[in-house]
Amino acid sequence: MKAEIAVVGSANLDLVVDVVQVPLVGETVLGGDLRRIPGGKGANQAVAAVRLGRRVAMIGRVGDDAAGHDLRTSLESDGIDTTHLLSTRGTPSGIAFIAVQSDGDNSIVVSPGANARLSVDDLIAAGPTLESAAVTLLQLEVPLDVVTAAARTAHGTVILNPAPAPPGGLPDTLLAHTDVLVPNQTELAALAGFDGPVDPSTAIGLARSLPCGSVVVTLGADGALVVDHTDVVHIRAPVVTPVDTTAAGDSFCGALADALFRGETLTAAAEWAVRVGAATTQRAGAQPSIPTPSEVEQLLG
Ligand code: RIB
Repeated sequence: MKAEIAVVGSANLDLVVDVVQVPLVGETVLGGDLRRIPGGKGANQAVAAVRLGRRVAMIGRVGDDAAGHDLRTSLESDGIDTTHLLSTRGTPSGIAFIAVQSDGDNSIVVSPGANARLSVDDLIAAGPTLESAAVTLLQLEVPLDVVTAAARTAHGTVILNPAPAPPGGLPDTLLAHTDVLVPNQTELAALAGFDGPVDPSTAIGLARSLPCGSVVVTLGADGALVVDHTDVVHIRAPVVTPVDTTAAGDSFCGALADALFRGETLTAAAEWAVRVGAATTQRAGAQPSIPTPSEVEQLLG
């Protein structure tokens, strides 16, 4: 069966430690026991979309190690098509080192490993999947030339989550092939070359300065801004006390893809995505925290 949503992106093994506060430069802190959890922005977005009911294919690379085996098995157990999740000989899988603070915020360092070996040739091999998917989800934990090629190849709606934001901004060709850009405030500032705090009114101007379709700016606990060239809608988030914010942005993107696939307007899709993102903060870990539709309702009360 053809995938409704194609995800081109990373799969990482997350090595997670709970801390009271993430360390400052030069500081050592003691944390809790190490947890090993499937993650990676691409894989998390794929898991979000599939748990919301979509047929999803994942295009990416894992290493030929135990982590790669576990990441693949985990995606398959969620029902994700891994035909184009390639194994990379002699290369470690992507690993993310994550410290989660007691307020639920985190700091992440990613060692891309096999994710960095994803190539344009791999993408060409997966061309039919990208051409038939109604929505393609992209992020930036795989090489930029591959992400750009994916945006050009995709025939459906292209959603780009520019995370992590590259210091030099994004090529105009990639933005031109992006229908919906989904940055957080920090990523938006980096892409627009803005050096200062990004409050919602600044975000509107920065979003409109980018040569892409619509922009949905995620604002964490403040919800999201849907910005196009004529309108702005601020969607408020449900009030929650976060346990762990890891993958909240990823589940937001997966939910946006789900709702756009179902023919919702961008504003309605963002309303759904804000709820799914908020629900994701209510449980620990990346993929274990990503909810089904009924869990969204249970977790938000
Ligand atoms: O967005 C959260 C994800 O970022 C984690 O799962 C980690 O793997 C990094 O990619």
